[in-house]
Amino acid sequence: MQNEKMIQAVNDQVNKELFSAYFYLAMQAYFSSLNLDGFANYFRVQVQEERDHALGFFNYLNKIGGKVTFAEIQKPQSEFSSPQEVFELALKHEQFVTQSIYSLMNIAREIQDHTTEIFLQWYITEQAEEEENMGRVLNKLKLIKGDGAGLFMIDSELAQRIYTPAVIPGVII
Ligand SMILES: [Fe+2]
Repeated sequence: MQNEKMIQAVNDQVNKELFSAYFYLAMQAYFSSLNLDGFANYFRVQVQEERDHALGFFNYLNKIGGKVTFAEIQKPQSEFSSPQEVFELALKHEQFVTQSIYSLMNIAREIQDHTTEIFLQWYITEQAEEEENMGRVLNKLKLIKGDGAGLFMIDSELAQRIYTPAVIPGVII
């Protein structure tokens, strides 16, 4: 029988991942409205990844005998002042999600739930990559200081991002 605290924390994480998808969809909409299609593509892929993350936790919760209780998904910020602001917010959000997954890991360790520890390992690695990716684009945006030609170069680069379905050990999404 799984610990109630663990089940609750995994349940809450489903909501956080769905919020992430919603937040990044707002960012996709912002870039689409500016005709920055590469940036919009970057967030389109990000939204799909967040949905995968949510489904990963959702299916894991079912697997360990819990049932997802859905909560309201918070309204995301949808007005942004610049592409740089978007990436500052996205990086900050990923750092928040990383802390949340660390908390899940701490609970798993506290109750010696090794199965959940192994499951969470994928997410820990994924979060490091997410922060790295957001940070890399943010640094480029800082370098170009709003220069139009630089922005179009980054836009072309981000147009190349392709969605690959997540393969999360132990769950089928
Ligand atoms: Fe995520």
